[in-house]
Amino acid sequence: MNKVVVLSHPLIDHKMALIRDKNTSTKSFRENVGEIGALITYEITKDLETIDIIVETPIQKTVAKQLKKSLVIVPILRAGLGMVNGIHDMIPSAKIGHVGLYRDETTLEPVTYYAKFPEDIIDGVVIVVDPMLATGGSATAAIKELKQRGAKDVRFVGLVGCPEGVARLQKDHPDVPIFLAAMDEKLNEKGYIVPGLGDCGDRLFGTK
Ligand code: PRP
Ligand code: URA
Repeated sequence: MNKVVVLSHPLIDHKMALIRDKNTSTKSFRENVGEIGALITYEITKDLETIDIIVETPIQKTVAKQLKKSLVIVPILRAGLGMVNGIHDMIPSAKIGHVGLYRDETTLEPVTYYAKFPEDIIDGVVIVVDPMLATGGSATAAIKELKQRGAKDVRFVGLVGCPEGVARLQKDHPDVPIFLAAMDEKLNEKGYIVPGLGDCGDRLFGTK
């Protein structure tokens, strides 16, 4: 069964309060989503394997550590883009893939309109990024696209989840650990997370 980690950190909680506030500007919303992405990166990478290497300091040779596997960040378009820079700042060697999905507004089912991934998804660690885990349909579909192309080591990171989305992801991809900044109460009849933060893509990009 999936590991589910709901982060508990005062800096993340403080920034989450800012992005939940409907009066927060687009600029501040975007900045804080990126900053939470950076803070979350410490937790999602905590168990990455390292290998010992020899480096020469200005004083002498010593054993140091290097990441064993390459990393690939895969934002689910659009809203996942908001977290990418923050994560990438922490892991500048990571490659970036993209998967474009939108939720059909009537059925709430995800429709894939774009997918482009680096080859490193096959042997690397893939971090799928989407701020909202609502029905779980988008995350499930994105991870399916990745697995069909050979990805084996996948983890999901989001800002706000709910029991429905976590249950769906656990059922469809029991091998994928889930990292969230907050676990909310439920989904409403329109598929929005309650209390949530509204439409994340619209708030990030100023649409609507
Ligand atoms: C939002 C969000 C997730 C999806 C989550 O995207 O960014 O991708 O909904 O919902 P789910 O768990 O029920 O699938 P949306 O479809 O609004 O597209 P956008 O990012 O382009 O705005
Ligand atoms: N997508 C969003 O942007 N917000 C929600 O609450 C649910 C899905």
